[in-house]
Amino acid sequence: MGALCCRPTPVDFDGDVSLFHFVLLRCVGKGAFGKVRVVQHKQTRELYALKYINKAKCVKMKAVPNVIQERRLLEEVDHPFIVNLRYAFQDDENCFFVLDLMLGGDLRFHLERLGSLSEEVVRFYVAQLSSAVEFLHENGIMHRDIKPDNILLDEKGNAHLTDFNIAVHFSERRLTGVAGSMAYMAPEILVKRGYTCHIDWWSLGVCAYELIFGRRPFRGRTNSDLTYSITKDPLKWPEDAEKKCSRQGMQVIKGLLDRDTSKRFGCKPNGEGYQELRRHPWFKTIDWDTLESKEQIPPFVPDSKKANFDASHELEELLLEDNPLKAKQRKANQDNLTAEMRQMEEQFTSYDFKKMQRRSYYPHNQQLISTATGTSSGIASRPATPANDLRPDAGVTVNNSMELHSADLDSIRPEMNEKEYH
Ligand SMILES: Nc1ncnc2c1ncn2[C@@H]1O[C@H](COP(=O)(O)OP(=O)(O)O)[C@@H](O)[C@H]1O
Ligand SMILES: [Mg+2]
Repeated sequence: MGALCCRPTPVDFDGDVSLFHFVLLRCVGKGAFGKVRVVQHKQTRELYALKYINKAKCVKMKAVPNVIQERRLLEEVDHPFIVNLRYAFQDDENCFFVLDLMLGGDLRFHLERLGSLSEEVVRFYVAQLSSAVEFLHENGIMHRDIKPDNILLDEKGNAHLTDFNIAVHFSERRLTGVAGSMAYMAPEILVKRGYTCHIDWWSLGVCAYELIFGRRPFRGRTNSDLTYSITKDPLKWPEDAEKKCSRQGMQVIKGLLDRDTSKRFGCKPNGEGYQELRRHPWFKTIDWDTLESKEQIPPFVPDSKKANFDASHELEELLLEDNPLKAKQRKANQDNLTAEMRQMEEQFTSYDFKKMQRRSYYPHNQQLISTATGTSSGIASRPATPANDLRPDAGVTVNNSMELHSADLDSIRPEMNEKEYH
């Protein structure tokens, strides 16, 4: 009897993907919306990262549209320098993303430990990330939250962009909703006269500056000081800048941090901006033709003997979590769901990269999203990631969520309301 009751229930790998298909391992990350832990697929033995978001919390934070949007955008993308989606599913409590596992840690983690990174390392990351940014823009997607916390290294040291929580599709019509992490926000977002995907190149410039010099180019104690600095202050270099960065490196950073989007590096239309960036002499050590096949040896290899993430996530899970994650059977009766819960139920659809083709939601959403954006105003705050909390000048992360209405369950509704995130 005893032996029988302890025998694990057999897992149906031919059925829909669920948490039962995975062994849960240690916690490696925590963001504003979700926790991230390592998991192993019980059948293939592959390791992945599992990002999960509590549905009740998501409703409370009015983040339902963001999570659905993140799910849809992740299905659309597949790129060597993006943390790609492998599976998506939900149970009664959580929505789950199973993503490529990045064992090398995020760049915020490395920056805090090392103080700054060498120009050579940053050049390599900027090259890889610009390839990811160009891919997103070609596919009509802007990321809007490029910052060191959202750049993850694999175990070999290749950089990958993650966190599509506030990414959106764009079209010719400009967005006005303020979204992103303020310190990395382009000036055109803050002046609220409309912006487009050019903002991602600016954020990449802020990251490059911060990684090389160990401080951000524009700073302020308050949001209005920071806004002033981003929109008005001349770009200044630290006193010892020339010791840390070549003239060509500074030229590239200056080019990315150009307030004039017609001159900003990366921004010329039809991929010309990206080509111009690639041709810059700073990148002459980069072999662009083999970059995406990851044949080049990264200049910084994360220490595989050490955990490249904050051990407090695991401790917190062990000591403070009163509802630890566990695979549970779904309730049969889903009749009494609130509108938002139903929305998640219906729109956070399952995805299995082994069984399904990726599909784009863009043509369907394009028009809706473009008309969405003129109506928004104001800034709402989203909790900063833990690393941001450490810095007085980190600024707020602001978000811009789109309302979803249960009457229109198949499409993301256009009203771009700024919501407060608690
Ligand atoms: N695929 C992954 N592999 C390893 N760590 C990850 C992965 N995805 C996220 N993380 C860790 O978890 C943190 C939060 O994940 P993120 O997707 O940015 O969530 P949020 O939207 O809540 O900010 C990241 O900064 C990173 O440290
Ligand atoms: Mg994040």
